[in-house]
Amino acid sequence: MAAVDAGWSVIGVDNLEAKVTQINAGSSPVEDVTDGQLQAALAISAYRATSDFTSVSAASVIAICVPTPVNEKREPDLTLLRRAVTGIAAHLSSKTLVLSESTSYPGTLRDVIIPIINEFKPETSKDIYFASAPERVNPGDLVWNQKNTPRLIGAIDAESERLALAFYESICDAVISVPSPEVAEAAKLLENTFRLVNIALVNEFTQLCSSNGINVHEVIDAASSKPYGFMPFRPGVGVGGHCIPVDPLYLTWWARQNGSRATFVESADSINHAMPQYVAERLLTLVDSSIAKPRVLILGVAYKPGVGDVRETPAKDLRARLMAEGAEVAWLDPLVPFWEGTFPVDMDWDCDIAILVTRQPEMQFERLIARGIQILDCTNSLTGQSGVITL
Ligand SMILES: NC(=O)c1ccc[n+]([C@@H]2O[C@H](COP(=O)([O-])OP(=O)(O)OC[C@H]3O[C@@H](n4cnc5c(N)ncnc54)[C@H](O)[C@@H]3O)[C@@H](O)[C@H]2O)c1
Repeated sequence: MAAVDAGWSVIGVDNLEAKVTQINAGSSPVEDVTDGQLQAALAISAYRATSDFTSVSAASVIAICVPTPVNEKREPDLTLLRRAVTGIAAHLSSKTLVLSESTSYPGTLRDVIIPIINEFKPETSKDIYFASAPERVNPGDLVWNQKNTPRLIGAIDAESERLALAFYESICDAVISVPSPEVAEAAKLLENTFRLVNIALVNEFTQLCSSNGINVHEVIDAASSKPYGFMPFRPGVGVGGHCIPVDPLYLTWWARQNGSRATFVESADSINHAMPQYVAERLLTLVDSSIAKPRVLILGVAYKPGVGDVRETPAKDLRARLMAEGAEVAWLDPLVPFWEGTFPVDMDWDCDIAILVTRQPEMQFERLIARGIQILDCTNSLTGQSGVITL
């Protein structure tokens, strides 16, 4: 949509037929793109979706933005990326710029994408240009978007750099060219790993403070008064979404491929992974010990406020740990209609205790508080209210 706004004619190629149909009917599957915005672009034929890769031949710029998840061994899984690049290659026209926006380890453009393109592109296709331009979008963010978030590009050669700059300068306020695709790819991993380790630090710090009767938020607020050299991060049930928990695993895998270990990052990952168990145990200590099977209500199961995305949400592990400890668990989230094979309950569900995991808009806590239900607040957003305990 940012490219449409800049005057480009855009085709979205997606192998999920249902999504293509939904988009072409004017219903946006992306939270930050409204139906009205999509419908306006469709109406003037500035945008259309298709599952047909032959459309690639009409493109002068191709942005690859397929998921880059981890497999069951928690190692990079580039299956979807390879499949998409193979699909693109066969239909590449001459003088096309190929951009990699998917998050991956350094070397992905040069060692994975370019060899596939060179192997499968038509012999007649000449002058293909390449750059890495990692996506930085923050879903649900009302301030930072595609236009005002600076874009990094790392091009393979001077002509690729010129074309990539021209493309992104047409849709972004600021574009920064870095010396190589590997620098751009590594910068993306550094950005997200920075968040992961700082969240882990504060999660560990929370446990230390809690066992000594100190409110960690008061400590973070106090430290935040320092005008330089400190940046506040808040504790929570863990990390979720498809970026912060996943991208650092690309970094740790990349380190191992090079015969090293990213031990600091691995340690941060372990701390965050252990948080749901810590939180489950903490919650159950707050329940009257005479209750054999406590009834627990989880408030908010999306991985962050304002979105309905439950990918990698720590609420899943929390729920499993609570059930393993013998609790009966129900949940509600105004933005999630169905989760883990179950439907939500409402605020009147008969519970012994509630836990606020993700603060979504329009959650009516007053109904719980009025009933005298204790709430373990993992978001530090209900402070000072009766029956509310801070993580
Ligand atoms: N969404 C974000 O907030 C965000 C932020 C920064 C970086 N990223 C990165 O961007 C990339 C995409 O993430 P996303 O959240 O947009 O993914 P997503 O899960 O929304 O998937 C994007 C689309 O790719 C389609 N797809 C999958 N395999 C395909 C194939 N072989 N051919 C064609 N289409 C295919 C899917 O059907 C889906 O519609 C990832 O590398 C992610 O790490 C995403």
